[in-house]
Amino acid sequence: MLSLLGLITAAATVGAVPLEQLQQKPLAPVDELVPHPNHAQLNPNTPDTSTAAQSLTGRFLHITDFHPDRYYKAGSSPDDGSCHHGKGEAGYFGQEGSDCDSPLVLVDETFRWIKENIKDDVDFVIWTGDSARHDNDEKIPRDQDEILDLNRYMSQKWIDLFGIRNSPDRSAPRLSVPVVPTFGNNDILPHNIFRSGPNAWTKRFEQIWADFIPEDQRHSFVQGGWFTSEVIPGKLAVISLNTMYFFDSNSAVDGCKDQSEPGYEHMEWLRVQLQILRERGMKAILMGHVAPARSDEKTNWDETCWQKYTVWMDRYRDVVVTSLYGHMNVDHFVLQDSHAAKVDELSEKQSDGTVSAMSKSDYLVSLRGQWSDLPSVPSGLESVQKMEDYLEANKKKGKKSKEDKKEKKIRKYLKKIGGPWAERYSVSLVSPSLVPNYFPTLRMVEYNLTGLENVGLAVESPSTPQQPFDLYQFGSQLDDDSSLETEKKKKNKKKGKGKGKKKPGFKAPEPPSSTAPPGPAYSNQALTLLSYTQYYANLTRLNEEASQAKGTPRMEFEVEYTTNDDVYEMSDLTVRSYLELATRIGEAGEVSAQKKGKVNAAWRAFLERAFTGYVDVDELD
Ligand SMILES: *[C@@H]1O[C@H](CO)[C@@H](O)[C@H](O)[C@H]1NC(C)=O
Ligand SMILES: *[C@@H]1O[C@H](CO)[C@@H](O)[C@H](O)[C@H]1NC(C)=O
Repeated sequence: MLSLLGLITAAATVGAVPLEQLQQKPLAPVDELVPHPNHAQLNPNTPDTSTAAQSLTGRFLHITDFHPDRYYKAGSSPDDGSCHHGKGEAGYFGQEGSDCDSPLVLVDETFRWIKENIKDDVDFVIWTGDSARHDNDEKIPRDQDEILDLNRYMSQKWIDLFGIRNSPDRSAPRLSVPVVPTFGNNDILPHNIFRSGPNAWTKRFEQIWADFIPEDQRHSFVQGGWFTSEVIPGKLAVISLNTMYFFDSNSAVDGCKDQSEPGYEHMEWLRVQLQILRERGMKAILMGHVAPARSDEKTNWDETCWQKYTVWMDRYRDVVVTSLYGHMNVDHFVLQDSHAAKVDELSEKQSDGTVSAMSKSDYLVSLRGQWSDLPSVPSGLESVQKMEDYLEANKKKGKKSKEDKKEKKIRKYLKKIGGPWAERYSVSLVSPSLVPNYFPTLRMVEYNLTGLENVGLAVESPSTPQQPFDLYQFGSQLDDDSSLETEKKKKNKKKGKGKGKKKPGFKAPEPPSSTAPPGPAYSNQALTLLSYTQYYANLTRLNEEASQAKGTPRMEFEVEYTTNDDVYEMSDLTVRSYLELATRIGEAGEVSAQKKGKVNAAWRAFLERAFTGYVDVDELD
């Protein structure tokens, strides 16, 4: 098992290939495309009369990296990382702890389990890509048809699960809940390479995902592979990002700084979406495939894209509920520090093009290193809540703050983290995969339904009211040296000095108004994420059982952990809660003996969960 940790996932670390060397076959023209016979197209002109608004359950499903593989052979050898050839122990439901992709029976059984166990609890689905196998078998290279076929197969699974048939004469199914897909780096050919749109891939997927992309978003999707789906009408939109344009390994594009780059256009589009949502009083969940990981050991995105993303997350902190990703296969989260985002330095910080070859555990250790540098918590007060209680008690006692050292420390700490809501930071959550690199998993997220109990789901074709699409309509230009750290300096400049020193080509969005309350990512309110339950399927056991089964083997998922359990102890999934958890994990190395047990437990659990319970953490280190 241990040797696995040294393995590098092909998906995550394949270096950038020079474009000239890529043998990209041209795609057939789109009008020659015949819709897949199984793929019933949604007819947008068919009025839907039968579906009364369902009420919300306060939960959604996040599932990612299915990697279905029609060539998977149970009983073949996993040694070459494909499970296509030879004789070996490749299991019936897939080979846990290998680089092999998923047999279709794993996909089918997952959908059966969802149908029988959680389907009715799901308000919408976040489906973060990689719905085709890897290119990991030289003897059977992938081609476009296979990639599109597997994506149709996966799309049809959702249609079968959530499709509603209205009446015999209206055979077009609609979905009972919105499903929001996105491109993974293996959903295209060659993998990782995605040129600016419109291109053959965006056109093909517009058809394959016809039931998932709202009618009025199709144009935008064909342009760049991005779109917005209003999953709770008038309340919540899911913004599907095309992270291929941010991805360092996509050698067909170059970051988010130059106006000619699709990454630049994507960030402008995102800014407009968030601005529209702010003006409509709505909130947004961002989702994408490749996570914005950024540590000494691993950086997934081009630096200029990370910078903009971090600024956007900060400026729209009143709008963004959370951001959700896949791709990395290990369960974890990352914090974006807005102090690390220098608006004026949106220059090309040239990476040398090499992606460091590292084990996943090294990456996790580097995160822990980052977290050990988080502002240190005043002693004896492990949560902001406790600090606030302390300040409150002092106030009641009428103590003068100057006399109280502890109070001073608390105030200093709160200032460092951006106030009591930790608004200096934003969080991105990375879900582990269904493909059994470790054990297959899926995640049910619970959110706060206060005030939304009677709001209907977007069962009609979800749509965003038409808005004029003017990229340059919003936002004000920032002065030259306006890193987010220097708010004060900036304000002074705005008042007269510094005029005429504007930097062309980059507009930072407006922050929320100074009177706006903290957003749902920061303080628990409607749409705030409260917790999630991570489910896993123990393939070691299930494959064993399958080999002895008399009838058709069945697969079950069970609870791996919940975020509010005894170890993580998260009262909600706000940024502040994640900051507290990260601080505990980061502290693990350097704490007093009596506290050690507890914080080490957080680091230990974090590692164990990263590998979905498959790896024996005691064997690490
Ligand atoms: C949801 O938010 C409201 C504030 O709007 C809060 O009073 C309530 O406790 C939250 N619900 C949960 C379950 O945390
Ligand atoms: C999975 O199943 C195997 C075989 O039954 C068992 O030894 C192992 O402890 C289980 N692992 C987990 C994390 O449930």
